[in-house]
Amino acid sequence: MNQPVFRCSVCGRESAPDAHAYCCSCGGAFELAFEPPAFDLGGIDHSEWSLFRYRRFLPLPDNSWRDVTMGEGMTPAVRLDGDTWVKVDYAMPTLSFKDRGAALVIALCKSLGVRRVIQDSSGNAGNSIAAYAARAGMECEIFVPKGTSPGKIDMIRSYGAHVEVFDGTRDETAEACRAKARAGEAAYASHVFNPFFYQGTKTYVYELYEQLGALPDNLFVPVGNGTLYLGVHLALDELEKAGLLPRRPTVWAVQSERCGPILRAFTQGSDAPADVRPVPTMAEGIAIGKPVRGAQILRLMRTHGDRAAVIPEADILPARKALAGRGFFVEHTTAATYAAYLACRKAGLVQGTSVLPLCGAGLKSQGK
Ligand SMILES: Cc1ncc(COP(=O)(O)O)c(C=O)c1O
Ligand SMILES: [Zn+2]
Repeated sequence: MNQPVFRCSVCGRESAPDAHAYCCSCGGAFELAFEPPAFDLGGIDHSEWSLFRYRRFLPLPDNSWRDVTMGEGMTPAVRLDGDTWVKVDYAMPTLSFKDRGAALVIALCKSLGVRRVIQDSSGNAGNSIAAYAARAGMECEIFVPKGTSPGKIDMIRSYGAHVEVFDGTRDETAEACRAKARAGEAAYASHVFNPFFYQGTKTYVYELYEQLGALPDNLFVPVGNGTLYLGVHLALDELEKAGLLPRRPTVWAVQSERCGPILRAFTQGSDAPADVRPVPTMAEGIAIGKPVRGAQILRLMRTHGDRAAVIPEADILPARKALAGRGFFVEHTTAATYAAYLACRKAGLVQGTSVLPLCGAGLKSQGK
């Protein structure tokens, strides 16, 4: 087993994973001090039909994952047209890519003996945590902002979780949840703060590598708090280190024209996310005005020559219709990534093959 250690991203202090201290006493977010063995297709357990087939490269303290897994991961990678591929990450137990991270976070909570979790979410991460908490026999409470798609709220309740619909923005909702976590009322199973979440989302790239035999030229990734984005770079670092990448793919960070603190800072050459006043957007899943790990995302974008892609709001519905016309019924936030991709391609900015994640299912954002 791989024994993980939490390390503060600000002061460097190391500590054992603790379900109740969600960040360092200095306020810094934790990273994971964890060095997996060099990635190698031979290390995959082909008898395991979930992302835990990669467990040789995951920081699992024990076998708790066996009581938690619902077969998440192993989603199809399909050619949409020409050089464009999609990875159907809505084909997951709770219909979004967040199950990758939730499976890891709840497996950690289970191994730490946690009985009660709380979490804040625009809907999908809350759905995932609620489902995995139910599976692990934990009580769960999810904070969502007012205006969250009713389908997502109904689904969270169906897992037996309590839903707190908070009268405020997404960022204010997160702060209300954190205040409760600080009061010690429950473990904060946060997709943003808990570094295990990114160990789950990194399997997105492992799978692409296993499925396609190589990585594409471009990876388009929606960025709100950046849980998929950060997982993608973790995996790219590992594959590069293992000598498996002749060329690192270009990562395109996708944000809304109505809420783009990372893209604005990137364009302005700033090290910290820009202060933005989020205007409501159909891309509710990425409407994050204050991304906790924003400075880290900006550092990675600069280090690796990432590109920025802006979502034109008016193109979201046509993009959703176009994907459905090809058989893929996705939620608005996912259509938004496709809209940004089409805009970049039309502008002649994209060369070679591209993979887009279909992060969320269409039924989730009906009624938007
Ligand atoms: C469908 C969908 N896509 C993308 C994202 C963005 O994820 P993150 O905030 O981790 O960047 C979310 C987040 O909830 C989402 O629900
Ligand atoms: Zn610290």
